[in-house]
Amino acid sequence: MKDVEGVQFLQWCLPRLRLRWPGYRKVRRQVYKRIQRRLETLRLSTVADYRRYLESHPEEWTVLDSLCWISISRFYRDKAVFEFLEQEVLPSLARQSLAEDESVLRCWSIGSAGGEEPYSLSLLWKLKLHAQFLTVRLVILATDIDEQAIARARRGYYSSGCLKDLPEEWRTQGFDRTAEEFQIKPEYREPVTFLVQDIREAVPTETFHLILCRYLPFTYFDASLQDKTLRCLVGMMRTGGALVIGKGETLPPGEFGLIPWSEEEGVYRRA
Ligand SMILES: C[S@@+](CC[C@H](N)C(=O)[O-])C[C@H]1O[C@@H](n2cnc3c(N)ncnc32)[C@H](O)[C@@H]1O
Repeated sequence: MKDVEGVQFLQWCLPRLRLRWPGYRKVRRQVYKRIQRRLETLRLSTVADYRRYLESHPEEWTVLDSLCWISISRFYRDKAVFEFLEQEVLPSLARQSLAEDESVLRCWSIGSAGGEEPYSLSLLWKLKLHAQFLTVRLVILATDIDEQAIARARRGYYSSGCLKDLPEEWRTQGFDRTAEEFQIKPEYREPVTFLVQDIREAVPTETFHLILCRYLPFTYFDASLQDKTLRCLVGMMRTGGALVIGKGETLPPGEFGLIPWSEEEGVYRRA
């Protein structure tokens, strides 16, 4: 597919899926490849044919939506954010929990891909903070729309490339090494529950002390869906709880009852 055709096609279809073109600019070639495979399955020759096909087969929009899920992730992505969580956010949330006589810190990783983000949080807590807060238990709910990503996350096998940003001692302590891969150890899997869930359609029923919502709505969703998602997330945060968004992402304009904890690291606190 020529780039110019691909761009035109994405600029036509993304708004109809309530997604935004600027979020896809850098990863567009990944989406082209998937669309190309879909054209082959449907025995269509060009994206113009696919556009006509979509116009006459409304059910195909669900397939196209799934071709737009971008699953890039890695352990300890944006190191400085995890350091800020370790030094500031988690100790403060743990102290707040203790002051309120609570023993569980609830975290939610949205768009958890192959488990890299929730397992990074689990490693961080157990290796760096748990000893200071022995009576506090960190539990993590990890949700993603992609069933295959959730299945991969549950298996918990990773290539060395995925772990390259992790501190060396975490890699040694956190994983069992097989011939070619690293498997996350059971004690770091135990706090994490994985669930297939589309953030546009459903949310968990509990409230959270910490929500990680990185590189999903605030990169890929259109403005009105970002606004709707954020209102919903804030409603699910404990007072004083934290929301983490991706580096370079910004919150939609408006009043949401959040105050910056560190704008540089994309961390906000519910007022
Ligand atoms: C770019 S990855 C981000 C992974 C991780 N949060 C990180 O920062 O490394 C985005 C993930 O969101 C998932 N996703 C896409 N649309 C979704 C939706 N509507 N609801 C839940 N997850 C979604 C994708 O399947 C993908 O695994």
